[in-house]
Amino acid sequence: MTEQPLLEVENLRIDLAVAGKRFAAVQDVSFTIRRGETLGLVGESGCGKSITALSLIGLLRDPLMIGGGTIRFAGREIQNLSAAEMRKLRGNRISMIFQEPMTALNPLSPVGRQIAEMFVLHKGVGWKEAESLAVEALASVRVPAPERRVKDYPHQLSGGMRQRVMIAIALACGPDLLLADEPTTALDVTVQAEILDLIRELSAAKGTAVLMISHDLGLIANMCRRVGVMYAGKLVEERPAEDVFRSPSHPYTSGLVASLPLLGARARHGRQRLKEITGVVPPVSAFPAGCRFNPRCYAATELCRMDDPGVTPLGGDGFVRCHHHE
Ligand SMILES: Nc1ncnc2c1ncn2[C@@H]1O[C@H](COP(=O)(O)OP(=O)(O)OP(=O)(O)O)[C@@H](O)[C@H]1O
Ligand code: SF4
Ligand SMILES: [Mg+2]
Repeated sequence: MTEQPLLEVENLRIDLAVAGKRFAAVQDVSFTIRRGETLGLVGESGCGKSITALSLIGLLRDPLMIGGGTIRFAGREIQNLSAAEMRKLRGNRISMIFQEPMTALNPLSPVGRQIAEMFVLHKGVGWKEAESLAVEALASVRVPAPERRVKDYPHQLSGGMRQRVMIAIALACGPDLLLADEPTTALDVTVQAEILDLIRELSAAKGTAVLMISHDLGLIANMCRRVGVMYAGKLVEERPAEDVFRSPSHPYTSGLVASLPLLGARARHGRQRLKEITGVVPPVSAFPAGCRFNPRCYAATELCRMDDPGVTPLGGDGFVRCHHHE
């Protein structure tokens, strides 16, 4: 019998309310993540990656709201949980790390206390014990001299150290699922590599599933076994990472891969058909009729302008959403 996925998202829709109208910022998004698996989510700025992640832990705020679909976590539907029930899950069984730790950390509280708070809140331990657990948690993300650093305020730490603190907070309670939204974009390249290694090691050691969000395909190729490609609020391709990079099926994926110096060259060599993408992602209120990618697509036909393609399964493992896929 196959194990039930840890996270099953089915036909997720996220609505954006503008001037009394509702627009589907995210639509028909379905994916699963198994225990211990890392799924990558890529796409240009504005494709809906962050709001998809935020919807999974009840952090969408007006004017955004879940408009339909189901989110099943460990077998339980969580899309309609009350705020109080969601707080019990968040930081405990599902955690999130963000691009800029300063926005997620409390500037007025020492970092050790912010880590300790997670143990008090979710594990019911007393403050004294929680504070020594916080020192251990800082040590586990390789912050030097953790017993001193716990007393520091966020502004006293470098960007890389703050990101380590956020990872320590996120992993403190041993979550089943970590949502990592551009966790290294704000950091310089060497620190980026260290932070990614850390996420990889800690998640492997604890069997934590990860949703890794990035516009950086190279990073996703390194970190993830499966990849979902998002365009204008829809998943347009979802497959094992090696297939996505070696033989992209959707014209948008082809364009993304072509823009990567190394991967692009390799894929071009193999297929001779990758085309760079021109133009930008439209705003949610101006998604075109038919396939949302059609104004930018080199392969668009009349059918694409009229009809939004459904999902076509690919070789039993993954799918593509395109009338004229490869
Ligand atoms: N609070 C908000 N109010 C109005 N529109 C929003 C809000 N948050 C997001 N959006 C819109 O929803 C769409 C998806 O945004 P989202 O932040 O999920 O994109 P993203 O893929 O994470 O992009 P990036 O790579 O820049 O982080 C965008 O068109 C964005 O403008
Ligand atoms: S459906 Fe048509 S417009 Fe959309 S990606 Fe495929 S070929 Fe391009
Ligand atoms: Mg984002």
